[in-house]
Amino acid sequence: MERLKSFTHLNIDLVDEENASELLEAQAHVWNHIFSFINSWSLKCAIQLGIPDIIHSHGQPMTLSHLISSLPKIHQNKSCHVYRLMRILVHSGFFSVQKTGENEEAYLLTHASKLLLKDNPLSVTPFLMAMLDPVLTQPWNYLSTWFQNDDPTPFKTAHGMAFWEYGGKDSKLGNFFNDAMASDARLITTVVIDKCKDVFEGLESLVDVGGGTGTVAKAIAAAFPLMECTVFDLPHVVADLKGTNNLKYAGGDMFQAVPSADAILLKWILHDWSDEESVKILRRCKEAITSKGKKGKVIIIDMMMENKKGDEESVETQFFFDMLMMVLVTGKERNEIEWAKLFTDAVSSRQAAAQPCTVVPWAAAGHRRIGALALQRKSVLGRPSGTDGSDFSYRMVVDSRYQKVAQGKSVLYALIIAQINS
Ligand SMILES: C[S@@+](CC[C@H](N)C(=O)[O-])C[C@H]1O[C@@H](n2cnc3c(N)ncnc32)[C@H](O)[C@@H]1O
Repeated sequence: MERLKSFTHLNIDLVDEENASELLEAQAHVWNHIFSFINSWSLKCAIQLGIPDIIHSHGQPMTLSHLISSLPKIHQNKSCHVYRLMRILVHSGFFSVQKTGENEEAYLLTHASKLLLKDNPLSVTPFLMAMLDPVLTQPWNYLSTWFQNDDPTPFKTAHGMAFWEYGGKDSKLGNFFNDAMASDARLITTVVIDKCKDVFEGLESLVDVGGGTGTVAKAIAAAFPLMECTVFDLPHVVADLKGTNNLKYAGGDMFQAVPSADAILLKWILHDWSDEESVKILRRCKEAITSKGKKGKVIIIDMMMENKKGDEESVETQFFFDMLMMVLVTGKERNEIEWAKLFTDAVSSRQAAAQPCTVVPWAAAGHRRIGALALQRKSVLGRPSGTDGSDFSYRMVVDSRYQKVAQGKSVLYALIIAQINS
């Protein structure tokens, strides 16, 4: 009875004139967060029904009735619901609506839905299908359990094994995941090869460590025909893949050894792993480069966490990716200082945590626009000295895929070059 009284008292306090609107706003905020999954599942449904491709093939704005009649296998009792799906996807920016007559409207694709077309070489549909596969969504149900248990990841709590082990056992997930990685790789590779050619010029050999099915390495091998390129990944990933003239596949474990080369590429690798694991990988890369007494470099393509004010969408993307790394694997997204610390620790024979790190502030920043992508170049130079007598200097070149770089967009892709001197 006492509890009920205090609750009633609380209600009266909360719903006075002054804060009634704030209360309703707060309620909408909570509801929208409870239901944000509806955006993801509506989008997945539209892809599964082939809606973006159907509108694209139509070649002009498509009316609802035309869309319904073009959708394959829609049950007649369900056709009246298609407009509800389209309405939420218009709201979330995947389609736009154009008036075509007195009482008629028609749907058009937006930039976002064009990126979901099956035949778009930069399509992110495989990424969407992989991320929204039940195997990858299930671990989110175990997030709070994971905070209270000893498992390395919620993925392990949900499936009883690590993400990479699961990929080896379930070829459906493995294929989905490799397709997802390849779709992302096509976009960034185009930019890197075109705009950062100098990074690859003069290299005789390169190993793409954790290179998946080889999308990035294939493009590099084609752009630099004199360079020997190797895609190095887990044995089950590269088992059935065939190389070409200057491209070959090799299976192995990057924690054990990495094939020797002038340069090692690590794209979307280190964010999959904890600091300790990443330092181990960097040390194997350093050994691979210096094994023949040579100098070389480690080229890293990964995210750079920044918190730019006024760029809420990219900041949210970064937080989403960081949470994804926590839930699926043992990794994380890193800021500039955390990246620099990895390099410092990779040359230190002491424990990572014991190693102090100095980061020289960004030396210079220039901005260039590349069609829909924008490249922002900044560079940092640092020379942490190794206790093993070697030198491991690094230069970080950062690029961003967003147009408004000059207005301070956050960085979703950074290109970090670590120079290795034997
Ligand atoms: C996030 S994917 C990145 C793929 C590719 N670099 C890209 O960006 O498209 C990580 C890759 O690391 C590979 N991998 C995981 N553990 C590995 C290990 N111990 N040794 C070698 N490769 C590994 C996975 O099979 C996967 O292809």
